[in-house]
Amino acid sequence: MSQPTKCYLILLILAIPSTWATYDHYRLPNSLEPLHYNLRILTHLNSTDQRFEGSVKVEILAKESAKNITLHSTNLKIDEDRTSVMSDHEKISVTSIETNEVYNFYTLHLSQQLEKNTIYQLEMHFEASLNDSQSGYYKSNYTDAITKEVHHLAVTQFSPTFARQAFPCFDEPSWKSTFNVTLGYHKNYTGLSGTPIIGCQEHESLENYVWCDHEPLLRTSTYLVAYAVHDLRNAATQESSTHNGVIFRNWMEPKLLDQEMISLDMAPKLLTFYENLFQMDFPLVKIDQVTVPTHRFTAMENWGLVTYNEERLPQNTGYNLQEQKDQTSFTVAHEYAHQWFGNLVTMKWWNDLWLKEGPSTYFGYLALDALQPELTRGERFVDRDLANFFDKDSNATVPAISKDVKDPKEILAQFTEYVYQKGSLTMRMLHKLLGEEVFFQGIRSFLSRYYLRNVAQGDLWNSLQEAALQKKVIPSNFNLSRAMDSWTLQGGYPLVTLNRNYETGSLTLKQTRFFKGQELGNDTSCWWVPLSLVRQTLPNFDQTIPKLWLECPAVTEDLQLVETPSSDEWIILNPQVSTIFRVNYDEKNWRLIMNSLLNDTNFGGIHRLNRAQLIDDLLALAAVQVHTYDTAFDLLTYLEKERELGPWQRAVNIINKLRPLLDDEEAKRFKIYMQKLLLPLYKSFPKLSGITGSSTAIKDIPFAHFVYSQACRYHVDDCTDQAKILTISHRNGGNHELPSNFQQIAYCSFLEEGSETEFQEVFGHFQNTTNESQRRVLASSLGCSRNFKNFEKFLNYTLGSNEKPLSDCCLLAVKTALRRDHLVTPTGNYILNHAKILGEKFKKKELTGLLLGLAESLRSPEELEQLKDQLEDIKQFKESLPKALYLGKINQKWRKDCSSDFITALGKRI
Ligand SMILES: *[C@@H]1O[C@H](CO)[C@@H](O)[C@H](O)[C@H]1NC(C)=O
Ligand SMILES: *[C@@H]1O[C@H](CO)[C@@H](O)[C@H](O)[C@H]1NC(C)=O
Ligand SMILES: *[C@@H]1O[C@H](CO)[C@@H](O)[C@H](O)[C@H]1NC(C)=O
Ligand SMILES: *[C@@H]1O[C@H](CO)[C@@H](O)[C@H](O)[C@H]1NC(C)=O
Ligand SMILES: *[C@@H]1O[C@H](CO)[C@@H](O)[C@H](O)[C@H]1NC(C)=O
Ligand SMILES: *[C@@H]1O[C@H](CO)[C@@H](O)[C@H](O)[C@H]1NC(C)=O
Ligand SMILES: *[C@@H]1O[C@H](CO)[C@@H](O)[C@H](O)[C@H]1NC(C)=O
Ligand SMILES: *[C@@H]1O[C@H](CO)[C@@H](O)[C@H](O)[C@H]1NC(C)=O
Ligand SMILES: [Zn+2]
Repeated sequence: MSQPTKCYLILLILAIPSTWATYDHYRLPNSLEPLHYNLRILTHLNSTDQRFEGSVKVEILAKESAKNITLHSTNLKIDEDRTSVMSDHEKISVTSIETNEVYNFYTLHLSQQLEKNTIYQLEMHFEASLNDSQSGYYKSNYTDAITKEVHHLAVTQFSPTFARQAFPCFDEPSWKSTFNVTLGYHKNYTGLSGTPIIGCQEHESLENYVWCDHEPLLRTSTYLVAYAVHDLRNAATQESSTHNGVIFRNWMEPKLLDQEMISLDMAPKLLTFYENLFQMDFPLVKIDQVTVPTHRFTAMENWGLVTYNEERLPQNTGYNLQEQKDQTSFTVAHEYAHQWFGNLVTMKWWNDLWLKEGPSTYFGYLALDALQPELTRGERFVDRDLANFFDKDSNATVPAISKDVKDPKEILAQFTEYVYQKGSLTMRMLHKLLGEEVFFQGIRSFLSRYYLRNVAQGDLWNSLQEAALQKKVIPSNFNLSRAMDSWTLQGGYPLVTLNRNYETGSLTLKQTRFFKGQELGNDTSCWWVPLSLVRQTLPNFDQTIPKLWLECPAVTEDLQLVETPSSDEWIILNPQVSTIFRVNYDEKNWRLIMNSLLNDTNFGGIHRLNRAQLIDDLLALAAVQVHTYDTAFDLLTYLEKERELGPWQRAVNIINKLRPLLDDEEAKRFKIYMQKLLLPLYKSFPKLSGITGSSTAIKDIPFAHFVYSQACRYHVDDCTDQAKILTISHRNGGNHELPSNFQQIAYCSFLEEGSETEFQEVFGHFQNTTNESQRRVLASSLGCSRNFKNFEKFLNYTLGSNEKPLSDCCLLAVKTALRRDHLVTPTGNYILNHAKILGEKFKKKELTGLLLGLAESLRSPEELEQLKDQLEDIKQFKESLPKALYLGKINQKWRKDCSSDFITALGKRI
């Protein structure tokens, strides 16, 4: 936006309050409904001129009479002389313009009323430069590998509130309209929009420029409209086997053409999968997938023009991390689930963002497991989300996933991992509690009822409730909406306590909110908790449809089961952890469970997810002194026989967090304990030195990675020696050809055991590699070094760099170092001494990660005090510091209240 316009706008704003009663609601008025947009955008894209000029004609229906037109516009230079408002028979003049900078409103005050039930044409002309902020219509570029020439391109990112930066529009998800897009550009480029081109013609005055009309786009929210002008290359044109044989094209810069592209392989399959799953055809005839060199998000599900962030793609240049590939596969699966959840059926407002992100995440997991079941990726993601959820959602200030948001900043802040993951777990809960048939029947009727329309979360509840009543899986008077609201309209989760009377066979159940680091209190929040019970003699963990519910407001339920479990068999609540709550049992029931895990074949039939959850629950209960660590460690003994990643990962990740809170002497004992715990598992895996790039089947990589990294961290058996052998044997004239998935583990031990020479070798390798993924792996290994002087050289080198990918490596290395005994203290000091520059260099989210990592490693109240003193006055830490201090406080409390219990229990087992 050019300077003069800005001054003009500011003057207007200052002038207004006294003259008009300013509109201050955050939503657009309901009086006008946009029906259709004709959008014409001319893009200039040479080395000296990167901007666009455009015009928009909006057909508007006046639902009420109104004397103004209010829509969104920001950063656009609007040519007011060319703005016009027309009805069929007359032109209506604009008397003045008003803007609201908080909500980006642009209001045209009119000389006369718009009549109710009449259609008007609003035409506006505007221009702006293509911005560098990856929002609205923005520019990006790539450098040709051979000619070294810079190629410019322009592409849109409208979600959530950036369409208004590209053209004036009613930029709220509930104002769905149809769109005719016409793009003008130089013939050197390809123009793309959501729909195919109908035809092109020469530009009226610019030589070698064309105007191309695109077919009308179906009724949609503005945030899903997209276009691009670029000279990327199409790697392949594919026809999918959807009902209308959707055509995919795959655009990317030339250097990516010979790489394996996960999106190219998966997208057509996914679209067909979802079409069958939802029993609703995909409505467009083509999809262009565009890999953009720079992108604000990982990907975006725009109609007919799905964009991906090139920086987040796994790199295939002989270096290739399975974890990244899994993540990218998930991204693709998520974007295509959005075509139904979000694109066809859209939330009314951003408070219900979870209504598109939760289902797209959850159905994305289902799709991954349906397309490649042997890789069990969806299952692992669910496991990870559960672990995250139970940890995060127990802090003092968790927001509800459905919450009020008003301005663009608040809307953008809704897009958190938390909303995605809890949203997904909420969908999973519905799936499990209604059962396969009812759930999908409800989902399908929801999608067809609201096809091309907008919804609130209540609409989803109602569709599912109807399906459930029809098939009688819930009682006729049950209110599913009320039950589900208790999970989405408040943060946190309950602990359900089950006490058995072993004489009468009756059960007592009650709920209370669970907070970490806090005694179970009398917090009155409550949830509708679906209850399914599994008993030892009938261990059916597939039976997830509840028999009854704990109600809210909460009462203590006494309950007599029809078939009383005998007093020597266990009961387990919540099969498959279908619902997100913790369970505590009486001591005897816990013992029965432990015996079964220890002695019965196949762990007494207890489901993998429940095994992980039993560990998580008991360790969490020990940390709030409801149980002793002695009991929790008794449960952990069963791990000796456990050969699934989920329970192992849950157990080890949780106790690893306690490790930094121990004194040096205690830490030694902790290490001995971990060695004993991990040894049988480690021994069941092949020797690390024999690993090659292809010796571990893809499906086994995650578990192998976990085992070797934990075993080497705690120096279990010969793990570190093996790691060194692996490193050295693959050294090939300075060329390292270590299997990429295990490189981090190998280098970490190599550095930890090595001296100056080894450090210089890996550091040199770090400086020379051009592969981004490998650089990140090397950076995080460098945090394993024992010598801080060396490590400091690395920190200074990366922190001093102006290249973002390089300075990011500083954070990665610090993260490792903060978890290693030798470097933790000096690294902590380094952070405090460089707080200012760190604050300037990194984003808020990155700083939060950094500070939480630091806070986790702090042992004494003095260290916490010091953290506070040094960072209090640096504004970039304003948001992250309270979170770090909160975590620090919880840890202090644990040291005071629980560490001796923990150490005693540990002492008995080494
Ligand atoms: C870029 O385009 C502008 C007008 O669109 C033109 O004046 C200028 O000469 C062009 N520059 C180059 C290097 O082609
Ligand atoms: C525009 O008109 C609507 C509906 O008549 C009214 O609610 C709103 O306050 C007006 N906006 C402004 C900025 O005057
Ligand atoms: C290319 O894009 C990057 C990242 O947005 C930007 O920093 C750089 O200035 C651009 N290069 C050119 C020549 O425009
Ligand atoms: C949109 O484009 C279609 C196809 O070119 C055309 O039939 C229709 O009239 C256009 N709509 C408007 C409002 O211009
Ligand atoms: C179009 O491509 C030709 C040939 O590569 C080149 O010489 C010319 O500068 C390009 N023009 C623009 C505007 O990109
Ligand atoms: C529980 O309630 C009592 C009395 O109402 C109150 O004093 C106490 O602070 C509450 N405890 C918690 C943890 O909320
Ligand atoms: C399970 O094994 C443990 C130790 O081997 C033993 O003490 C216990 O009695 C066994 N429990 C049952 C129910 O067999
Ligand atoms: C608690 O967790 C939520 C969700 O991750 C987060 O938004 C919030 O900032 C956390 N609060 C604290 C004090 O850490
Ligand atoms: Zn999404």
